[in-house]
Amino acid sequence: MMKKISSFVDYFQQYHESVTDPEGYWAKIAETFNWHKKWDKVLDWNFKEPKINWFINGKLNITENIFERNLPARKDQVALIWEPNDPKGKEIKLTYGELFEKVCQFANALKKSGIKKGDRVAIYLPMVPELPISMLACARIGAVHSIVFAGFSATSLSDRINDSKCNMVITADGLFRGNKNVHLKSIVDEALLSCDSVEHVVVLKRTGDPIEMKAGRDIWWSDFIAGVSTVNKAEVMDSEDTLFILYTSGSTGKPKGVLHTVGGYMVFAEYTFLNVFQYNEGDIYWCTADIGWVTGHTYIVYGPLLAGGTSIMFEGIPTYPDPGRFWEVVDKYKVNQFYTAPTAIRALIAQGDEWVRSKDLSSLKVLGSVGEPINEEAWRWYHDLVGKGKCPIVDTWWQTETGGILITPLAGITPTKPSFATLPLPGVQPVIVDNEGKVLEGNNVQGNLCIKFPWPGMIRTTYGDHERCRINYFSTYRNLYFTGDGAKRDEEGYYRILGRVDDVINVSGHRIGTAEVEDAINQHPKVVESAVVGYPHEIKGSGIYAYVTCDALSEDEARTIEKEITDLVSKIIGPIAKPDKIQLVAGLPKTRSGKIMRRILRKIGEGDATSLGDTSTLLDPGVVEDIIRGAKVDVKR
Ligand code: WTA
Repeated sequence: MMKKISSFVDYFQQYHESVTDPEGYWAKIAETFNWHKKWDKVLDWNFKEPKINWFINGKLNITENIFERNLPARKDQVALIWEPNDPKGKEIKLTYGELFEKVCQFANALKKSGIKKGDRVAIYLPMVPELPISMLACARIGAVHSIVFAGFSATSLSDRINDSKCNMVITADGLFRGNKNVHLKSIVDEALLSCDSVEHVVVLKRTGDPIEMKAGRDIWWSDFIAGVSTVNKAEVMDSEDTLFILYTSGSTGKPKGVLHTVGGYMVFAEYTFLNVFQYNEGDIYWCTADIGWVTGHTYIVYGPLLAGGTSIMFEGIPTYPDPGRFWEVVDKYKVNQFYTAPTAIRALIAQGDEWVRSKDLSSLKVLGSVGEPINEEAWRWYHDLVGKGKCPIVDTWWQTETGGILITPLAGITPTKPSFATLPLPGVQPVIVDNEGKVLEGNNVQGNLCIKFPWPGMIRTTYGDHERCRINYFSTYRNLYFTGDGAKRDEEGYYRILGRVDDVINVSGHRIGTAEVEDAINQHPKVVESAVVGYPHEIKGSGIYAYVTCDALSEDEARTIEKEITDLVSKIIGPIAKPDKIQLVAGLPKTRSGKIMRRILRKIGEGDATSLGDTSTLLDPGVVEDIIRGAKVDVKR
């Protein structure tokens, strides 16, 4: 295991070293991994193109660093614990040795079916062990995994498959989530009606529901691996070969495929995992995310397994069969590090304290939070009730694009402060800039959060469209990576993340692009146009508020249109993007040049019309009055 940062003094020393000699700093860390060939140069970069290359000409395989590197000491140690949706179901524990055999076997099966290095494989699976198995099998042979969260619709799935021209889809007949049973395979069948690139679909049996298998295209998982060898030699990869693509929403257009490469991501995943959670030999670690999101990629699979840890994956939801489920699982496995999202905490607060009090949580040492700013009430409850006041909370700020955590306390080392992500990890150089791009020096400043120097786990490009990557992240402020978040640095130099400053809404920790939701709403034949904004939501953090103008509606149509719009969004994107509020309006507030003034709609959605600011540029100020009158919230004037 690599050496962890051991004290606050050590943190400052390492931080200093990482800024004065970044290449030396990361080289020392990278040396703790197995390389077929060491790099010629640690870093070559500019944020103009952008070009970001780490560990240049290094040769390696990330799965050899999970398995071959760890196996001698950990063959019989449990790598993955799978806790099923149904608490009466049987858990699965896979040792490093067992997981390795399964990964190798699936890797061989992939190769046999014609998948080779560089091919894209879409994985659309529930939270079952076959998800990390297929993911690691791809990495083993150099195929690029593109995991799609199994809550996305057929349209979202086909968009993602087509964007990166996936050759294969790995899925299941269905999934269990709480008391829901979702027919995944039929969603895949629908998606594939508009995908030409997919040759084979591997189908895992999970629910046993009847499905259609298309001859020549579809094959059961069990047949796919039947008789296939469990011995596999890993593909030797270049540091900058692609490891995976993960789609995420931005402020414009369709979701983009954020691309990560093998070497830098590997180094950063293990480094951040060990340091942030201060994971120790033998600890039981549980991250409650879904592997369909980046948190699951880095902190259920790659980080913990590279570090030789024991990682729990959970198929279910926090409230099934009752709101005590998280704590029951913590108790059952004696979890030491627990990592979840503020939205889950808020949902559980609402269910009362007894669910927590009745369980033995004495094993807990560290609590983590990710996905959105954690409000002070949730922080206190998590700290006092779940952690009994003795577990540090690591409020970890990062993004799909950053590959791993960037700003966070180190557990037990960095003094914490509710709702502050505190300090950057070594190697991470944040800056706050004003809207003109001027860097705000010193403390007590607030503005747009940027990073001025590369770190190993950062995005390399957006799949198939490098210019889009440049425009999205590297063109707003010269020579800076722009995060899309606002932040303040307080008098102590601590960072507090204030949320998105672009047209992205963070709903229950999931990024939803307003443009995407508007496009979906606008597909309704009666809708003329729409504007979508976020508004404060007690459980979700932000809810989705849609203002919609329609053609003249009959009484019948008026009665059903809101539901039709909701269903349409669910069908086109997925249930997570459904608007929480839809307000039919006569017109949208627009400038004389025709631009929708979202700022005004946001204010109204927040229930505050006292500071609408300058409305004199509006084409028709009367529409604002109408919207306030019909708002689905009490608006203060
Ligand atoms: C938000 C999730 C405040 C932020 C890992 C970011 C946070 C977006 C935090 C990325 C945090 C994530 N405090 N905000 N601790 N963590 N965010 O790509 O707005 O799904 O830009 O990655 O989530 O979401 P993503």
